[in-house]
Amino acid sequence: MFKAVLFDLDGVITDTAEYHYLAWKALAQELDIQGVDRKFNEQLKGVSRDDSLQKILDLDNRKVSPEEFAELADRKNRNYVEMIQKVSPSDIYPGILELLKDLRENGIKIALASASKNGPFLLKQMEIEDYFDAVADPAKVAASKPAPDIFLAAADQVGVAISDTIGIEDAFAGIEAIKSVGAFPVGVGKAEDLGEDIHLVADTSHLTLAYLEDIWKKR
Ligand code: BG6
Ligand code: MG
Repeated sequence: MFKAVLFDLDGVITDTAEYHYLAWKALAQELDIQGVDRKFNEQLKGVSRDDSLQKILDLDNRKVSPEEFAELADRKNRNYVEMIQKVSPSDIYPGILELLKDLRENGIKIALASASKNGPFLLKQMEIEDYFDAVADPAKVAASKPAPDIFLAAADQVGVAISDTIGIEDAFAGIEAIKSVGAFPVGVGKAEDLGEDIHLVADTSHLTLAYLEDIWKKR
């Protein structure tokens, strides 16, 4: 059986993927950059703040100084941070709390493998930080998703071999990261966004311990 579950946060534990999208869209509008729509946003999911900003600037071949780049990234983050102030336990996606409880009761380690530097704040806001045996720090890993570094760090922090872990993701970049190191991916979302070749749930209410055990046995 698997020994740890490595959770993405935004779009898996709660709906903050939507706030990231709204904040990037607002910034793009301020910069008069077209094309930051929901389809393009699939390329931003799971991707670090700086890498996301670069992808948006590239849409318009826009070149900015390092100082302006830092100011833009910071501006997006300030807007995003304002949006997430009201996140509370009632915003936890369906089934997630039950899953955390069941994993804990069954001695399966729980780790956060989010690219977001706002992850610890959000876990606190949702009052679920005590369920997490480890929170991998995205500031300390060399490369961001689709590189696997954050998942490797999360597995390492709970002392479990990466091949004994399940990674849960709503982002294509995250699924790529999980696959590339032989962890077992479970996607939250659609095959057209995440791929045909992995186990997918349409929403988190399907993410029960029984479901994870079942697909693990059949893998
Ligand atoms: C990921 C999100 O979880 O975190 C991305 O899917 C986001 O959209 C990234 O850019 C970094 O988040 P933050 O909060 O550090 O800017
Ligand atoms: Mg996500």
